[in-house]
Order: sequence, then C-alpha cells, then structure tokens
Amino acid sequence: MKYILIVGVTSGIGKALAHQYAKEKHPLILTGRDRVEMERIASDIRIRYQVPVKVKTIDAESFDTHSDFFASCVEEAGNLSGMLLVYGHMVDQETAQNDFTKAKIMIDVNYTSYVSLLETAARYFEGERSGFIGVITSVAGDRGRKSNYIYGSSKGALSVYVQGLRNRLYASGVHVATIKPGFVDTRMTYGLSGLFLVAKPEDVAKRVHKSIRKKYDVIYVPGFWAMIMFILKSIPERVFKRLSL
Ligand SMILES: NC(=O)c1ccc[n+]([C@@H]2O[C@H](COP(=O)([O-])OP(=O)(O)OC[C@H]3O[C@@H](n4cnc5c(N)ncnc54)[C@H](OP(=O)(O)O)[C@@H]3O)[C@@H](O)[C@H]2O)c1
Repeated sequence: MKYILIVGVTSGIGKALAHQYAKEKHPLILTGRDRVEMERIASDIRIRYQVPVKVKTIDAESFDTHSDFFASCVEEAGNLSGMLLVYGHMVDQETAQNDFTKAKIMIDVNYTSYVSLLETAARYFEGERSGFIGVITSVAGDRGRKSNYIYGSSKGALSVYVQGLRNRLYASGVHVATIKPGFVDTRMTYGLSGLFLVAKPEDVAKRVHKSIRKKYDVIYVPGFWAMIMFILKSIPERVFKRLSL
C-alpha cells in the first residue's frame, strides 16, 4: 500500500487519525514540529498495528522549507496515496484583537502555511492523477461571530481555498475533502468555557476516515453540526449583528 502523509500528528485529532489509518493497515509518514512526541506516537503505532511509519519534522511557519519538505516525504515514501493536514493554532479573540503579532501567527499557521503546502502537494497529486487530500478547517469559519472572528476568518479563508482546490483537482481524479469539526476535546479547547457537544478525537477520526473513503466533499464532524451551522447561517445579518455569539 502507498503511504499517507499526516501533517500535524501531535494534535489531538491528528494523532487519532494516525491510529485510525494505521488500524486500516496504511503505511504512514507522520510530521510536525515535536520530534520527540512524534517518535513516541510512531513507536506506539508500529507496535500496535505492524505498519511502516516514518517521521519528519516541519514548522508550518517556515514557508521556504515547505517545498523541500514535501519532496523529501515523496522521496522516502516512494509515492503517496493521500495527505491529511491537521495542525492549527488558536489565540483567544481578545488577545488577537489587541496584539496583531499573535493574530498574524494564527493567520500564518491556519491559512498561509496551508496554501504554501497545498500548492506544492497539488502539483504532485495532479501529476499522479490519483489520491486524496483532507484538510481540517472548522465550523468557526462558516460565519463570523464577535467571540472568535479572527480565528474563524483564518478557517473561513481556508475553507474557500480548499473549495477552489477541489474544483481544480477534480479533473485530475484527486479527491479534496473539507473537514469541519465542531468542538473537540483536545489541547486547543482545554479549559475553555462555553463549550457544548464536545466530541472525542477518536470519534472524529472514525468519521473522517469513513467520509473520505466515500469521497464526501464537505464533512461536518459530528454530522449534526451541518444542521447547527445551516440554522446559524440562515439568520439574517440585521438580526445576527445584534446577537451575542
Ligand atoms: N479542537 C477543536 O475543538 C477543533 C475544532 C474545529 C477545528 N479544529 C482544528 O483541527 C485541527 C487540529 O486541532 P486539535 O484541537 O486536534 O489541535 P491541538 O491538539 O491543539 O494541536 C495543535 C497542533 O498544531 C500544531 N502546530 C501549531 N503551530 C504549528 C506550527 N507552526 N508548525 C507545525 N505545527 C504546528 C501543534 O504542534 P506542537 O505539538 O508542536 O505544538 C499541534 O500538533 C486544527 O486545525 C484546529 O484548528 C479543532
């Protein structure tokens, strides 16, 4: 079987996805910033599922390394059947409003770096004329709300970008999936107040794996978030602007 590349495997959702795909016997290239943690995840997966696992480091903010990083992943793997991008950064709205340096890091990680990596990957998969790309955005990108519109806009921009990429790569037989989780129990949400219907990363991974296999284009996780966001998006702007959301 060909390798699957996971970018951001030390994230709660990324780690669960690595286990899910390894369980299905896919060889993996696990990538991220934290080499020690990645080696730990890789050893665990090799022992549990008996699949080949390689580890590579990448810093999403080092844009000028992305092209070499992707080329070295392809070289080591031989070839790739797919790629999942699962890293992200969130600073709270108040901090982002008052400290542009911190807001910029969030925008660079959540949007700019994805464009950089995905344009490199798109050329590869276009040439292969097969494969899949799964990108984690967020329900937060579906509508701007005062409590998190800077994070939300970085995800909203990413969702629009991925939509265009799907349209471009369809002709080459490459499937591109937009994955929109609601709240998930990970480091990113730890200690935050006001969360509801919080999902487990393992359940998110199961749904993502199944939905990509079925070639779904936009995947809300859990599925009921599609209905919640439909209702939220249906509220007219003249009403919505008065709400405290
Ligand atoms: N949790 C939620 O409720 C939720 C909801 C909707 C969408 N999402 C999205 O789902 C994805 C995964 O979220 P999560 O909650 O599982 O994440 P998480 O556990 O909080 O982990 C964040 C990940 O992003 C990585 N990262 C941050 N900056 C990076 C950089 N400059 N270069 C490389 N890696 C970087 C971190 O690496 P280190 O380990 O090295 O710090 C870590 O692997 C993110 O895109 C997030 O926005 C999450």
